[in-house]
This record gives sequence, C-alpha cells and structure tokens, in this order.
Amino acid sequence: MTLLLGIETSCDETSAAVVADGTVVRSNVIATQDDLHRRYAGVVPEIASRAHLERILPVVEQALAEAGASLRDLDAIAVGHRPGLVGSLLVGTSAAKALAWALDRPLIGVDHVHAHLWAGNLGREPAALPALGLVVSGGHTSLYRVEAPFDCRTIGRTIDDAVGEAYDKAATIIGLPWPGGPRLDALATEGDDRAHDFPIARVSGGGLDFSFSGLKTAFLYAARGQPKGRDATGPRFPRDGAALDDDAKADLAASFQRAAVRAVMRNVIRAVDEEPERRSLLVGGGVSANRRLRAELESLAKRRSLDLRLPELRHCLDNAAMIAGLGAVRLAAGDVDGLDLQAATTTLA
Ligand code: KG4
Ligand code: ZN
Repeated sequence: MTLLLGIETSCDETSAAVVADGTVVRSNVIATQDDLHRRYAGVVPEIASRAHLERILPVVEQALAEAGASLRDLDAIAVGHRPGLVGSLLVGTSAAKALAWALDRPLIGVDHVHAHLWAGNLGREPAALPALGLVVSGGHTSLYRVEAPFDCRTIGRTIDDAVGEAYDKAATIIGLPWPGGPRLDALATEGDDRAHDFPIARVSGGGLDFSFSGLKTAFLYAARGQPKGRDATGPRFPRDGAALDDDAKADLAASFQRAAVRAVMRNVIRAVDEEPERRSLLVGGGVSANRRLRAELESLAKRRSLDLRLPELRHCLDNAAMIAGLGAVRLAAGDVDGLDLQAATTTLA
C-alpha cells in the first residue's frame, strides 16, 4: 500500500488529505475562506494567501489525525502547484517541500486541473482511458481528450468567463451571498426555467469553445432593467436586482441555470459524438456539484452507454484528496519532483 499526503491551496480553500493507493480517501480536510472574501464578492489574493499560511499546519495535522496516520507513515507528499493564485500556491508548495525534505520523502507536484479530472476515480477503480474530460469550475470551463492522467489535450475552452464565475456573478446581481453558484442552483429548483429566454452563445468557428459573457449580460438586464445611456444622470439601472421578490429571483435563477447547463451540455454532446471510441467521461470542478448538470450528464451517459465519472459532492470543489490520489499515479511511475519545484499560474492541461 502507498500512503500519500496531499496539499491543496491554489485558490481559497486550504485542504490536506491522506489517500491510500490513489483512490482510497482516508481523510480530506477542507478549510474554506468563504467568510473572509464574502464582503468583496470575490477572492482577494492577499487575504487568501495569509489565511493559507495560518491554516496550513493545523489542516495537515487534522488530516493526519482523521486518517489515523503519522508523518512517518507517508510514502510521499503531493501538492497542487499549478494553476492558481501565485501567493496561495506558494504556501502549499513551500509546506509540501518542507515536509518532503524533513521526512526525506518524494515530493510530487500535481496540476490542479488534472486532479479535478481524477476526482471521479476516488473511491473506485479508475476509469478506462482514453477518455473525454470536462472541467467546470470558477476558473475553468474546458473539454479535454484525456490520453493518460497527465496527458490531457484541450479541445474546447471558454473564450471569456468560466461557467462558475458566471454563476457567482449572476448570484451577486440578485443579492445572493458569495460564492453564489450553489445558492443559485438551489434557488433554481423553485423557479420557472422558461420565464426568461436567455441566450446560449455559439462561438464563431463552430468548435467546442464556450462563452458565458452574453448570458451574464442578458441576466443583468433581465434583473435590473435596460441600462441608461452614458450621459444620463442618476442610477445607471432602473432597478436593484437584490430587491426583486423571491418568485422573480427564482425564475431568473431557473432560466439562468437552464441556459448555462445547456451551453455546457451542447459541447459535451458534440464531443461525445465526435469521439465515439472514448467510452469514459471524466468530470470535475466546483460546477460538477450542480444538480441540473449532474442530472443531464447522467442521462447522456445512459443514452450513450458511457462510463461517467462524476465526483462525489465533497470531491467536486477544490480538495486535497484529488491531489494525493493523482500524486500516487506519478509515484507509481517513479516520476517525482525535486525541491526546486515551482508554483505556476498556468495549467499544463
Ligand atoms: O473547483 P472550484 O472549487 O474552484 C476553482 O477551481 O475555481 O469551483 C468553485 C466554483 C465557484 O464558482 C462556485 O460558485 C461553483 O464552483 N459552484 C457551483 C455549484 N457549486 C459550486 N456552481 C453552480 N452550481 C453549484 N451547485
Ligand atoms: Zn478547482
């Protein structure tokens, strides 16, 4: 058996996990910073890195305690070292280096996007490859050809906002506390998804790229009314979206959800149809927790007999279990990093 400690600090969750043999999650501790960033309705990088610094060691200790493991039991330390906010990544990367050095264990840098695609393998036998991959999060909305766990080729990506970012912005417009994605998803179940006919962008060139900025603007105007011209005086919008009644907000949320999920699904269906030899579909990222997206992916998988890997809800959002899991695959291949491992803001996927 191999036992890895995983560390994840790419954005605003401080997480540590202990995973055996790449898929058996012994512990997965996640300290969220939502409360620290809420009043800014977005992640403030400097606040995030300071909070990681305060929390990283207690979170690692708790992950070890919950797993019933000691530092000496670990075979390697894996860390999400890219992509993300550089100040945040540096905290996790430095902590992982210090532990690897002090314990004389291998250090393994893991790309956070690759790890999201591994999350659906946790707790079960890994999916057969080659596969198709979909990462939907606050920072990414991309489709991949997954040849191997570390060999993902992008076949479609958003040309503007990520879908999670569009969810969070829409939620803010109607006064839901940040991060609003999960709240908008919940509110959508109470509304009429045909109340507004929001656009589903077609990106020119007809490829598998996504765009969510048109949907975001249409939602803004539906919630707040048409903006006045630049020279007009007084408030720019006729209404305050946060002051709408509950039914109006629920209808907006449901209609947004319908358009956003259709925009994602349309390209997933095209990719599946264009690559019939790929029988597995790996999905990950915060928005893979979305109930409508999950239902539509499950129904697609049934219709096309795909091996769909939707992560458990606790493994959709940023977490260290997916980092430790994928780290074990590299350890098994003897592919480890030196203490010169760098944090990087870009993904290799
Ligand atoms: O993967 P993640 O934790 O962080 C990034 O790597 O970005 O994803 C966070 C994103 C946020 O935008 C959050 O609002 C969104 O995932 N999200 C959701 C849901 N749960 C989380 N969006 C829509 N519906 C959900 N249920
Ligand atoms: Zn993520």
